[in-house]
Amino acid sequence: MARRDYEIDELISAEAIAARIGALGTEIEAAFGDTEKLVVVGLLRGSFIFIADLVRKLDLPVEVDFIEASSYGNAMESSHDVRILKDLRGPIEGRDVLLVEDIVDTGLTLRHVLGLLRSRRPARLETIALLDKPSRRQVDVRATWTGFEIPDEFVVGYGIDYAQRDRNLPYIGTVRLP
Ligand code: IMP
Repeated sequence: MARRDYEIDELISAEAIAARIGALGTEIEAAFGDTEKLVVVGLLRGSFIFIADLVRKLDLPVEVDFIEASSYGNAMESSHDVRILKDLRGPIEGRDVLLVEDIVDTGLTLRHVLGLLRSRRPARLETIALLDKPSRRQVDVRATWTGFEIPDEFVVGYGIDYAQRDRNLPYIGTVRLP
């Protein structure tokens, strides 16, 4: 494997992520305690590790589905052109849905995907984002639950990539270009 031509500085340790997800799991369980079967929707690809850890903290009947939206391509800037690349497998009408996202940055992806899911008339629709960069927001959208607020830095790890690399890091780090 080619060496990285950039450095990664740890921002959030694997232990801190695990502790935060434990606490979020308790809150989500309380919020959806009466739900017959919660549909947990992972927004691909960045949420794949987060959703795997999160659902294992939920002592609730859950179904897992995925949706994929285009975002950054291989650059560090958003294209602002959100498209659905892979849709859900199952219907969500009348269901309780939890959308799981990696990062809310400009908010454009979340707004687009929420609009699409809302149009399918779920009984309840909430969102959880592992990371939030509020200083970058372009549209007024907010996740119901957030893991960590972070500064305006480009991050990788724990499912999140830089040009499709570093999703497999167990922690979250910031990218430092030479
Ligand atoms: P938004 O539409 O600008 O909110 O961007 C959301 C998506 O952009 C996220 O789901 C990520 O896939 C990607 N993204 C935003 N910030 C970062 C980052 O710091 N590192 C890697 N991907 C990011």
